[in-house]
Amino acid sequence: MLSVDSVSASYGNLRVLWDVSMSAEAGEIVSIIGANGAGKSTLLKSIMGLVRTQGGEIVFEGTRVNGVAPHTLVAMGIAYVPEGRRLFPEMTVRENLRMGAPRRCPEVNERLKFVQDLFPVLEERRFQLVMTLSGGEQQMVAIGRALMAKPKMLLLDEPSLGLSPIAFEKVIGAIEKINREGVAVLLAEQSSERAMEISDRTYVLENGRVAGSGLSDELLHDPMVRLAYLGVGT
Ligand SMILES: Nc1ncnc2c1ncn2[C@@H]1O[C@H](COP(=O)(O)OP(=O)(O)OP(=O)(O)O)[C@@H](O)[C@H]1O
Ligand SMILES: [Mg+2]
Repeated sequence: MLSVDSVSASYGNLRVLWDVSMSAEAGEIVSIIGANGAGKSTLLKSIMGLVRTQGGEIVFEGTRVNGVAPHTLVAMGIAYVPEGRRLFPEMTVRENLRMGAPRRCPEVNERLKFVQDLFPVLEERRFQLVMTLSGGEQQMVAIGRALMAKPKMLLLDEPSLGLSPIAFEKVIGAIEKINREGVAVLLAEQSSERAMEISDRTYVLENGRVAGSGLSDELLHDPMVRLAYLGVGT
């Protein structure tokens, strides 16, 4: 469904991705783990057309998408939840959700229902200002807004950021449910263990390079990965 082949990216003279290759198939949850500054967010931004890439190729459903504008990618079926959520805090839950739907979208009510069935709390709080929601609820709004575009693939950047373990668990449950509805998920996470537990495959980024990849189950039990990325001994 999505393939990234030998893609590099820089900020000015600072190169942060080096020949990164990865893929995600329909129906999969794929996690991207790595330390602070490893390049997880830059990889998602590169896919989403928010960072210009050098060399290589990004292909979504058979179409080369390097340099394609973010709104075109959304229309093609890729939705993105940025790190830090980037909501409109002084607008209501409902208004924020509507922002995620295309203009003059005839299915907007149907999509709102899908999101509110997934996150019933957002239905209860539909007229509440986003700034008054808890962190977990705000993350649900951010994911809900992305789902309003009816994506085939969802890119999630660090959904655990600022959340309590309990709130993050709710988000994890929602990610699994979204995936069961047929949406492929690319999940960049520093809370690597949970991300790996719910994903089919994992890519480990280290200093902008893919340092390892494989079935999440296998990597989770790999002593090297456990020590280096999960901070636990064997
Ligand atoms: N807009 C920017 N301008 C310059 N350098 C940047 C910019 N954004 C990121 N970088 C640098 O690129 C590198 C990779 O950053 P990136 O945000 O992709 O890492 P990350 O893996 O998402 O980290 P984190 O876990 O902290 O979110 C870092 O060294 C960072 O300082
Ligand atoms: Mg990041």
